Amino acid sequence: MSLQSAVAVTEVGQPVAKVTIPRPEESKLADHELLLKVTVAGMSPFDAKIRDWNPFGLPFPIVLGVDVVGVVIKNGSNMNFPIGSHVFVQKLGSIQEFAVVDGRYAAIVPEGITDAEAALYPINAVTSAKVLFTSEGLGFPLPGTAEAASFDFSAQHIVILGGGTNCGKLAIQFARLAGIGRIVVTASASSGPLLRDLGATCVVDRQSANIEEQIRAAIEGEIIHVFDAYGNVDLGVSLLSEKKKGTLIDIIQGKVSAEVLEKKKAKFDHRFLQGYLDQSRGDQAFQLQGHRRHGL
Ligand SMILES: NC(=O)c1ccc[n+]([C@@H]2O[C@H](COP(=O)([O-])OP(=O)(O)OC[C@H]3O[C@@H](n4cnc5c(N)ncnc54)[C@H](OP(=O)(O)O)[C@@H]3O)[C@@H](O)[C@H]2O)c1
Repeated sequence: MSLQSAVAVTEVGQPVAKVTIPRPEESKLADHELLLKVTVAGMSPFDAKIRDWNPFGLPFPIVLGVDVVGVVIKNGSNMNFPIGSHVFVQKLGSIQEFAVVDGRYAAIVPEGITDAEAALYPINAVTSAKVLFTSEGLGFPLPGTAEAASFDFSAQHIVILGGGTNCGKLAIQFARLAGIGRIVVTASASSGPLLRDLGATCVVDRQSANIEEQIRAAIEGEIIHVFDAYGNVDLGVSLLSEKKKGTLIDIIQGKVSAEVLEKKKAKFDHRFLQGYLDQSRGDQAFQLQGHRRHGL
């Protein structure tokens, strides 16, 4: 058996370690898989949670990393990426020399983008796109579809709490690309210029005293679409309309306090959304087909 190096958690709460694990075998690739020689592994705050708490009770060693960029060495029988092309894709446990990935969700790294830049996108971009454009999330129509063509995005709003996070920044850009009229976000004052440049129509300083009032003033109407990208679910629920049913989507499994729930009279939806793609959970919409593989 061939071996390879990886970076893994070997004990909760301890520094990560270089470990030796089996190298994936080409002959065992499933139809939809690719074997990559890893060039860049992308990490996220999730890796720190695995190191510090191992919340899912995964067996050790737990190889870290959530996204990967790599050179295609071998295609599964249903895949046809050019051998030697660089692709980027989600991959839990990506900090290893060779990785098997799901080719249905992989795309070729576009020209002008480095592998290191591409490694920022898979989990963060998919999470934000799912928040905006799927029924698990806020349910805006996906731009480019017939439904989107007849939908008035300019009359819509979104509040993004934690606009300065990676997921927040991507959600701002997706909202702008879709044409959403009011994109109101919270972030530190120093991030304001960048976030406005990305498409936020109003940036509220997350350290100011009257955040809620400032957001309400910027939206000028009932708030029914809130994305919490950092862990501000109490604020998210407080903001939601008392007249219309609103939706709060969060990505960190925040728990709303009893005090806030007691004050809230109107019904609302609060859902945790997970950005990892999984065919078994109906994520087919995110599979990349034909030319889209080459131009994500
Ligand atoms: N469910 C999923 O599938 C999924 C996927 C991806 C990420 N996540 C989770 O989403 C969270 C964000 O991750 P990320 O990688 O996008 O971003 P990140 O790197 O954790 O974001 C850091 C930024 O958050 C902002 N921030 C700091 N404290 C804040 C606060 N109290 N309230 C609001 N914003 C604050 C700061 O920006 P400013 O100074 O500009 O405000 C900071 O630069 C993490 O908990 C991560 O694990 C979940």
